[in-house]
Amino acid sequence: MKPVLLTASIAALIAVAACNQTEQASTNQPVPDNATGNAVASAAPGSVAPQQAYDIRHERYEEMGDSLKAINRELKGGSPDVPRIQREAATLAGLAEQIPSWFPAGSGPDVHTKSRAKAEVWSDPQGFSQAHARYLEQAQRFNRVAQGGDVNAIRTAAQDLGKSCSNCHDRYRGPER
Ligand code: HEC
Repeated sequence: MKPVLLTASIAALIAVAACNQTEQASTNQPVPDNATGNAVASAAPGSVAPQQAYDIRHERYEEMGDSLKAINRELKGGSPDVPRIQREAATLAGLAEQIPSWFPAGSGPDVHTKSRAKAEVWSDPQGFSQAHARYLEQAQRFNRVAQGGDVNAIRTAAQDLGKSCSNCHDRYRGPER
């Protein structure tokens, strides 16, 4: 009974996040303040309760990874599917805004043994926030360039985008476990 309920509530949260992404792409959801407890965290729309945060960010990062892979796959070929790239770019720009809400305090490796998030995500919130800001800027820039449709410009911007993923991973994601 319990796993079913848990899965259902994760699905619901993901659905909420997906709605926020399409309908309110410009509203930046606040990062939940966990010092005040889960009730507050789960009450804020678009924010994520610590117990579910690992599963949600896992799903979302997989989605980001799939989008970036699809973009790079298109760009490798001789005649990239530009509308496809544009769709993936819009997805990435929408998800980019949500990243901080996926990391409430108490959702790290001490709780989720599979998590590769480093303690620095929480002990160096300013640095993590800067890495996020840099990525957000690149994701939005990439989306603008992609919607412009110039394949050469898209190619260059895609490299910058990939670097801004690694910039955060190098500092805030630990080795595979
Ligand atoms: C602001 C920091 C940050 C940015 C930017 C970022 N990531 Fe990550 N990413 C992380 C952290 C931290 C983890 C580890 C999360 C965990 O395991 O709890 C992670 C995990 C992942 C995972 C593994 C998911 C899993 O649970 O198996 C993938 C895939 C991924 N990121 C892809 C990307 C891609 C692609 C981009 C850029 C388009 C990106 N990330 C940008 C911080 C970031």
